[in-house]
Formats: sequence, C-alpha cells, structure tokens
Amino acid sequence: MARLLVVHHSPTATVRTLTDGVVAGANDDAIEGVEVVVRPALEANAGDVLSADGYLLGTTANFGYMSGALKHFFDTIFLEAGGALSDDGSAAPGGGGKKPFGLWVHGRYDTTGAVRSVLSIVGALPWTQAAEVLEVLGDVGDDARDSAYELGGTLAALLS
Ligand SMILES: Cc1cc2nc3c(=O)[nH]c(=O)nc-3n(C[C@H](O)[C@H](O)[C@H](O)COP(=O)(O)O)c2cc1C
Repeated sequence: MARLLVVHHSPTATVRTLTDGVVAGANDDAIEGVEVVVRPALEANAGDVLSADGYLLGTTANFGYMSGALKHFFDTIFLEAGGALSDDGSAAPGGGGKKPFGLWVHGRYDTTGAVRSVLSIVGALPWTQAAEVLEVLGDVGDDARDSAYELGGTLAALLS
C-alpha cells in the first residue's frame, strides 16, 4: 500500500480547519490503496519521510517565512531524505526525483515569503510539486475548506 505523509503545523482552530480538510480529502472513500499518515511538524522524523511515497506539507506564515515548526522538520530530515546542500549551506536547487508533494500555507496578510521558503528547500529534495500551492488568508470558509479537501484528494489519488 502506498503511503502519504501529511506534515503540518496547525496552531489555531482556523488552521486546523484547513488541515482537517486536507486530511479528509486524502482519505476520500473513492481513493483506494493509500495509507494516510498525519504528523505534527515537531514530531515527524526522517523515518516517516523515507517510508512515504508522497507528501503534504502545511504551515502558517510567520515573519514572512514558514513556521519554525516546519523549518525544524526540514532541519531534521533534510539530509537523510536525500537533500543536497550548496557550499554556502543553502539548499542546492535541482534535487530532482519523483515523489509528489503538495503544500498549503495559511496567513493573515501575506504568504509569499512562506511559500517561497518551503519551495526553495523542497526544491533540493527528490520530490516534485504535484499540485498548485494552496494559500489561504484570514478566515477559512467553505471555499478554502473545499480547496483543502481537493488538495488532499489530489495527492492521494496520485498514489492510488
Ligand atoms: C509571530 C507571528 C508572525 C506572523 N507572520 C505572518 C506573516 O508573515 N504573514 C502572514 O500572512 N501572517 C502572519 N502571521 C499570522 C499567522 O500566519 C496566523 O496567525 C496563523 O496562520 C493562524 O491563523 P489565525 O490567527 O487566523 O488562527 C503571523 C503570526 C504570528 C503570531
């Protein structure tokens, strides 16, 4: 059975609504043969990453960057997960590879830097972006929740 790993930082009820939507979509009844594993970003480890076939990442925007929790996840797993570093210590672009990932980011006014920060790191992992980034500002309404469900379903369907 394929495994989809959901790594998220969901510190508020608003963000948890999005995360719940993503997880619900990934567990859609129509999708078969996919085990969905959900880990808070501060608890996920390299074993979780290496044993997964695809990834869904969720974070808040904080100070124009991803959350410290998701950054901690990358700091922890990056090299074991096949990430490449440049001589200056930045993530080396062109990781290549086929494992699909999706990303959602919640903020209150601007998620641009947070999205960029995640994509620059993931670009050095052997993963490939499989869905448009879901960026949500402010309160989470039905449209955002539907988009989150669709994101989860899209990644899971790719692995089924
Ligand atoms: C320390 C801190 C930094 C933040 N920085 C950003 C930011 O750069 N961009 C943004 O859109 N929102 C920012 N926010 C808002 C959070 O992203 C937002 O509070 C979080 O997604 C949870 O959403 P909620 O407050 O609506 O429940 C920040 C919040 C905090 C506490």
